[in-house]
Amino acid sequence: MNFETFETPFDAVVIGASGGIGAAVAEQLQAHPQVGSVLALSRSSPACHIDLSNEATIAAAASQAAKLANLRLVFVATGLLYDGESLQPEKALRALDPAAMGRNFAVNATGPALVLKHFAPLLPRHGKSVFAAISARVGSISDNRLGGWYSYRASKAALNMLLKTAAIELGRTRKDLVVLGLHPGTVNTGLSKPFQSNVDEGRLFTPGQSARYMLEVIAMAGPRHTGRVIAWDGEPVDP
Ligand SMILES: NC(=O)c1ccc[n+]([C@@H]2O[C@H](COP(=O)([O-])OP(=O)(O)OC[C@H]3O[C@@H](n4cnc5c(N)ncnc54)[C@H](OP(=O)(O)O)[C@@H]3O)[C@@H](O)[C@H]2O)c1
Repeated sequence: MNFETFETPFDAVVIGASGGIGAAVAEQLQAHPQVGSVLALSRSSPACHIDLSNEATIAAAASQAAKLANLRLVFVATGLLYDGESLQPEKALRALDPAAMGRNFAVNATGPALVLKHFAPLLPRHGKSVFAAISARVGSISDNRLGGWYSYRASKAALNMLLKTAAIELGRTRKDLVVLGLHPGTVNTGLSKPFQSNVDEGRLFTPGQSARYMLEVIAMAGPRHTGRVIAWDGEPVDP
């Protein structure tokens, strides 16, 4: 992919770099000749640590990122769908559990919003920059035909609203900033593993494939895309 729409070389931050998709995004950015430094942050890294449920770690990670010379891309690849028995996507209302819902919202919506709070001030006022967070097509209200997955769907819909609202505010001072939600497709990672049986052959992407598609979306995105959710194929996802 070609990042000629950015002032290059540019520096990037990847949050959730231990995840299936996040690791592939960080790797591709690190290998790209138009990218300078990549700060790859994750919950499990002692040196580049971030835990979205702990705002102090987000603030500390932003201080690390402030040292980058030309930060133009913040890519949030964190997310939560299930976690053993205590957190499973709900098939019916009777399965709703406030603690599990709270965890979904904390990681999928509140966490990325706090990343916006601490990292958006680091993005330049002139020239293209992108704040991208991985959302999911199931967060689209108009596309919801199957029901189920209450907390995950709702937390991603909330994420989409947070991104849109931030795009409006930040657009007042940063005309060239693009705030994006991204739908990565269905990707072969730990997060999707138990739910892959209904995926058509050829529609289950490797993390590397999905990362490349999303970085191509980021490379082509401009002000008209800000506040939108864009899928791996460049098509907008209806709210
Ligand atoms: N895979 C798919 O088919 C698919 C489809 C649509 C959307 N998505 C979205 O794509 C994104 C990436 O998912 P993935 O498939 O790559 O899943 P994954 O391999 O499970 O990665 C999830 C990442 O989120 C991190 N994370 C979870 N809670 C965190 C917290 N409190 N603080 C910091 N990091 C935290 C994990 O860190 P640890 O390693 O420390 O646990 C891991 O790096 C998610 O937003 C997901 O909803 C995925």
